[in-house]
Amino acid sequence: MCGIFAYLNYLLEKDRKHIIETLIAGLARLEYRGYDSAGLAIDGDETDEVFIYKQVGKVAALKKLVSEQSIDLERPFISHCGMAHTRWATHGQPSPTNSHPHRSDSKAEFSVVHNGIITNYRELKLVLEKKGYIFESETDTEAVAKLAKYLYDERGNNNLTFTALVKAVVKELEGAFALIFKSTHFPNEIVATRRGSPLLVGVKTEKKLKVDFVDVEFASDEKVETNLLAPPDASRLRRSQSRTFLSEDGMPQPIEFFLASDPSAIVEHTKRVLYLEDDDIAHISDGELHIHRLRRDDGISAVRSIETLEIEINEIMKGKFDHFMQKEIYEQTDSVVNTMRGRVNFETHKVTLGGLKAYLQTIRRCKRIVFCACGTSYHSCLATRAIFEELTEIPVSVELASDFLDRKTPIFRDDVCVFVSQSGETADTILALRYCLERGALCLGITNTVGSTISRETQCGVHINAGPEIGVASTKAYTSQFIALVMMAIQLSEDRTSMTQRRNEIIDELKKLPDYIKEVLNMDQGLKKLANDVLYKEKSLLIMGRGMQNATCLEGALKIKEVSYMHSEGILAGELKHGPLALVDENMPVILIMTKDSLYPKVQSALQQVTARKGQPIIICNEGDDELSKNYKTITIPQTVDCLQGILAIIPLQLLSYHLAVLHGVDVDCPRNLAKSVTVE
Ligand code: F6R
Repeated sequence: MCGIFAYLNYLLEKDRKHIIETLIAGLARLEYRGYDSAGLAIDGDETDEVFIYKQVGKVAALKKLVSEQSIDLERPFISHCGMAHTRWATHGQPSPTNSHPHRSDSKAEFSVVHNGIITNYRELKLVLEKKGYIFESETDTEAVAKLAKYLYDERGNNNLTFTALVKAVVKELEGAFALIFKSTHFPNEIVATRRGSPLLVGVKTEKKLKVDFVDVEFASDEKVETNLLAPPDASRLRRSQSRTFLSEDGMPQPIEFFLASDPSAIVEHTKRVLYLEDDDIAHISDGELHIHRLRRDDGISAVRSIETLEIEINEIMKGKFDHFMQKEIYEQTDSVVNTMRGRVNFETHKVTLGGLKAYLQTIRRCKRIVFCACGTSYHSCLATRAIFEELTEIPVSVELASDFLDRKTPIFRDDVCVFVSQSGETADTILALRYCLERGALCLGITNTVGSTISRETQCGVHINAGPEIGVASTKAYTSQFIALVMMAIQLSEDRTSMTQRRNEIIDELKKLPDYIKEVLNMDQGLKKLANDVLYKEKSLLIMGRGMQNATCLEGALKIKEVSYMHSEGILAGELKHGPLALVDENMPVILIMTKDSLYPKVQSALQQVTARKGQPIIICNEGDDELSKNYKTITIPQTVDCLQGILAIIPLQLLSYHLAVLHGVDVDCPRNLAKSVTVE
């Protein structure tokens, strides 16, 4: 949901070409977050000059636009700050004017890149328009750039620091944002801040960093009241009491800083990063990074540690695959192992999730468990609810985060709420988490992103360790979330001896999963042919099943519609006769999931209902189900224990959706109108 990136070099000569290439490469890594337009801002030839380039389309279109400019690419900069943005439109359609960076005025005294939504931008815009500001775009972000200029001009440059100015701006803002500011009044400085949208800073230097943490500064300017309608006395804005953080025995050293919405844009430069917290104001200037807080006494720790990223650069490259989605589907043989690694002991049949250890008794004693998530992550919760309830005997409700909040669902201190999110940054899920924290519930996070907001704001949780997922359509995260939730249910039930046999059976099958997945992946060519010969020209596809496969149907249909743009609907087979059966005739493509579990006889009646209407279903069934294979077109998958069968049943649907997308000529990793990380409500 928009990617922002900035690059600063200090005492390290870089030419303009290098700076542009670094910004473009950073954007390319973030492209999956939004890709309807892109833009960048770099220093011009004069100190008070900024060059801004913006283009509709993907980052490659911006790259082309910049390459066509007649600017001196060899011009060296000892210190320089540039910033860039890749957009997923929320306010105003994709157009060069609506693209970021947004500027305060024609000279771009202040320029801004933004991820998120400023909810009070209309009010701000109205006030600023009354003061004579003319807006050029339809975006919420432009109000931020213009507000910065307004406050700067109002207060004059009377010892006003860039940090103090941005604090004053941020105090006027409502909504969710990660913002990076650049200004001709503060050359070679950058101020960045976040509230609800992710942002991290990478630090690269040849020498060892002197410290591994940054003390947060409570600067003297923080008490300034900022009310746009009645600006305070400028003299109250004083220089902050900065503490130096990066200097080698007082000697300035060459250093580079990278700011980005997520680590994938930073890891090729450095693994040393610092995650910003909500309401941190990061100021980078003269090779130093200082973090200020917007307000004192908000209970937030005053130390930010510098962490080492664990991802490797090859994890975010496509390698031999044509698309990230394809690579990630194939990676599932490994990603499921990584989710279980060090946690499942196949000899002793024990599961140990370190992140839950201290909370096991509290969870076991709770009245109910609430799973809360969006999209694919929601489906992983649905897929595992039955085994969770069976093993733990605790009632589980599964909630779509947006609906959960819309209903203001009652939550109590003795509830346990589990927030599942690949990115850990989904706005709806984060808001639901904060809602539950406020009500005193124990909150757990199941995420794939170390350092993400959900993993930091929950009291405990599990990282699924699936590795970076770049394709917008979630695939390997789904299967890893599925396994993480099953492991959690197993561990929670370990005090129940009556469940020992069931647990052991599941753990034995977890061990075999990678081999089973390999078998399913071997069917890829057949699935490609099915997509090409049977499904490609169709307008719609119904996917039916019941019980533990209901989630597979919903997830399969979601995959198909989001990457192939073909209408698809997941239907609970038990509901067929209550309405959806009207859609079935000899022309309507139907996929029916009929794996061997306790509900097999009931799905048989759904099959009869479909065939009686001349439907010709394609059946996902288990190997050895000769009766079905003889009479129908089938996709056969290995048989495993009922509660894990959904992991094997979803993979053919992931592959089918991938091939349908390729056949339809869709940009598979970046389907239209979507973004990987939905950081707006
Ligand atoms: C579908 C998909 C989305 C996400 C949803 C939640 O393929 O990726 O439906 O699952 O936006 O995202 P996370 O899991 O990051 O919270």
